[in-house]
Amino acid sequence: MRLILALAATAIVGPASASLIPQSQYAFQNNRIPTVHESAVMARRILHLSALGTLSTVFPAADAPSSRPADVAGTSIGLIEYIADCEPTGDPTLLALDIATTFKNAAAGSNASLSLSWTPPPGSRPVSPASLPRFALTGYLEPLRTDEVAAHGIPACFARAHPDARAWFPGNRIHASRWARLVVREVYWVGGFGDRAYIGWIPSEEWRSVTREEVRECVLPGEKEREGWREWLGF
Ligand SMILES: *[C@@H]1O[C@H](CO)[C@@H](O)[C@H](O)[C@H]1NC(C)=O
Repeated sequence: MRLILALAATAIVGPASASLIPQSQYAFQNNRIPTVHESAVMARRILHLSALGTLSTVFPAADAPSSRPADVAGTSIGLIEYIADCEPTGDPTLLALDIATTFKNAAAGSNASLSLSWTPPPGSRPVSPASLPRFALTGYLEPLRTDEVAAHGIPACFARAHPDARAWFPGNRIHASRWARLVVREVYWVGGFGDRAYIGWIPSEEWRSVTREEVRECVLPGEKEREGWREWLGF
């Protein structure tokens, strides 16, 4: 399967594209395509470094009268939401505002998917953004229990990523809100060009098996040497 993808990508982009691709810890290492596990580690690091993601849900059937147009029923909508990486399982943490479309759709029974991508720091932009990793986590939203919120230090973790969001934390006077997680069922990964990156599904066990150490040590394409761990938000 991977060989086929690699051949297909080579046919499309041609071998000359090799010089356009930024180095990463895994790319070209031993002249091979990163394994599914190595790809899962990169994806977990991207999640860890991301503060925002596009969360897609589907509008429910147009039953009760509502302010939304009837013809959006059954259509997906991807909206950018605050996210944080606060649980060791890699299920992204969300601050679910009851008033927000994403969470209304989830409350009405929609599944959800979160799309993330890697943008290297300024100064190391690759010639071809198509060479950069992007992926989607698919699953569903679920509220966090009080004991889980405490066990994972969710408010403090979320506030490190989003200090401004304190105003909407559960119990605030502006909006009804609750802590939630995206329970990851499947991961679809596009690591870059198919002749040098893995493109395909990552099983959720692989996603969950990634350790904090692996995430910490992973170097994404264009990522600089790290000066300390300022960007290390969670855990
Ligand atoms: C959500 O996904 C599950 C698993 O694929 C599926 O069984 C269920 O029908 C989906 N729910 C909706 C509302 O589409």
